[in-house]
Amino acid sequence: MLRYVTTNPGKVREAERYLPDGSVERLDFDYTEVQADDLGPIAAQGAREAYRHADAPVLVDDAGLFVEGLDGFPGPYSSYVEETLGIERVHEVASELDDRRAAFRCTLGYCDGEGFAASPDPVDQGDRDAAAAAGPDAAGEGGSDGEGGAAGAGAEPLPVKLFEGYVPGRIVAPRGDGGFGYDPIFEHDGETFAEMDTDRKNAVSHRGRALEKFAEWYADR
Ligand code: IMP
Repeated sequence: MLRYVTTNPGKVREAERYLPDGSVERLDFDYTEVQADDLGPIAAQGAREAYRHADAPVLVDDAGLFVEGLDGFPGPYSSYVEETLGIERVHEVASELDDRRAAFRCTLGYCDGEGFAASPDPVDQGDRDAAAAAGPDAAGEGGSDGEGGAAGAGAEPLPVKLFEGYVPGRIVAPRGDGGFGYDPIFEHDGETFAEMDTDRKNAVSHRGRALEKFAEWYADR
């Protein structure tokens, strides 16, 4: 059984659409969100921590809104910016820009404790960058991913397979009542995500694209 690590049951329902019946369940586990300027290391570190907690295959996702004219900001800081500035302020800032193009990106990190055969999707090997991003307390010997406990210092890093999804759009004044987060200010194909029904949004969303890639690969795992 695959564990989708999230506090949001809606994400599990979305994952169920792509995976065989009864093959995924929610794991409510609060992993450490490392600071990084990219989604990959955050999802990878979360997947390692969740795998060690669950001792079963896990899938962790990390997502964010990347505004072109702000060099990708808020990107990996999207949750923090949503909670502090709020999406109206993000729209205000973006409305001053000539380039209001933006994209939602999602990275899924899968870990089951085993290695992976070569494929186009990247594998995070828990290298020095990831160890550094995890901070001094988590750093093991020789640049391992350095989780504590039995699998701690000197242990082989746990490889994590990453699947990336992307949806292009642009920042607009808030419209629509549906969805969550930045949905009201993100327009794709003439509609904001908050104006789309759930099925339509899932069909084009960053998470849907990443789940589609993951499900195709997972079928052979
Ligand atoms: P998380 O990785 O799913 O926790 O999302 C990180 C941040 O991006 C949070 O502020 C979310 O509200 C926002 N976010 C992620 N996915 C979406 C989406 O599909 N629509 C709107 N906001 C999203």
